Amino acid sequence: MGKILVTGGAGYIGSHTAVELLDAGKEIVIIDNFSNSKPDVLENIKKITNKDFKFYEIDYSDREKLEKVFEENEIESVLNFAGYKAVGESVKKPIEYYTNNISGCLVLLDTMRKYGCKKFIFSSSATVYGDPEIVPLTEECKIGGVTNPYGATKLFIEQILCDLYDSDNTWDICILRYFNPVGAHESGLIGEEPQGIPNNLMPYIVRVASGQLEKLSVFGDDYDTHDGTGVRDYIHVVDLAKGHVKALEKLDKEKEGIFIYNLGTGVGYSVLDMVKAFEIATEKEVPYVITERREGDIATCYSDASKAKRELGWIAEKSLEDMCKDSWRYIERQLK
Ligand code: UFG
Repeated sequence: MGKILVTGGAGYIGSHTAVELLDAGKEIVIIDNFSNSKPDVLENIKKITNKDFKFYEIDYSDREKLEKVFEENEIESVLNFAGYKAVGESVKKPIEYYTNNISGCLVLLDTMRKYGCKKFIFSSSATVYGDPEIVPLTEECKIGGVTNPYGATKLFIEQILCDLYDSDNTWDICILRYFNPVGAHESGLIGEEPQGIPNNLMPYIVRVASGQLEKLSVFGDDYDTHDGTGVRDYIHVVDLAKGHVKALEKLDKEKEGIFIYNLGTGVGYSVLDMVKAFEIATEKEVPYVITERREGDIATCYSDASKAKRELGWIAEKSLEDMCKDSWRYIERQLK
């Protein structure tokens, strides 16, 4: 059996997926340049799983070094988590985002082709749906209308993958559209570590609860939702990671093809629902103020996750309480 290459395997979603792959008995190779992660994560993946893996500290867009990884290992499939992911930062640094996410992915795909490795799983995002015309979002819903360079990189790479498959249908490609990943591994050993002040809701809530930040700004309470605040489909990162294992199993079994799946729970919660759920789950207070809407935000976004259930046999199992408790446990450990 060949090995699975995990690019960005020390990052938030990459590390949780590495754990699930190792737990499922797969052999993996991780590459990461630690641009948004830390080396201890690798030790913690080993601690959680009691398994070992090869690691290379390289940038996935460094063709020469990447080729060496393919030379030294029999790579059968690739999961790509090496993208930059901060929406706001992408507006300020479009060249960095397009270069890392798109050029990097092209170097990776070209190298895979050179070594005859044609199984690829790509981390896409619900952001490709832009401002949804209807919810829940199915994979057939219109894509486009992204409002920032980060979203554009996801949309463009999806297109690149479709074109690649059209040009050579011996590729096996799976595009996974993530909704809003939150939570952490229940061990508290790996989780999300945003640098500086977090932009996303859950990391912000956690830092308010810990006293590192004073209060949460709730961006707008005049949306057309049940309480006026934005509604999203929050999904536990461990469920998301398990979705990758299922996707890989599908690629291993099926004839070649290109497949697209939403990975979400199918349920939407508002910002205030999240604050309340967090307070109940952790018995911590989360002071907040209502402020202006954030530019580029949409009212509601949640998935129809039935295709993944039907075709992958995957379903998100963890509750909102788990998401809150696990997010908190990780930060509590960091503070000790
Ligand atoms: N929010 C607040 N206050 C905050 C942060 C967020 O009220 O301090 C609100 C937002 O307005 C939104 C909700 O919380 O209603 C969720 O916001 P996030 O920033 O956590 O997530 P987004 O839905 O805006 O973005 C996420 C991912 C992106 C992805 C996008 C669409 O972070 O990578 O979903 O799929 F592109």
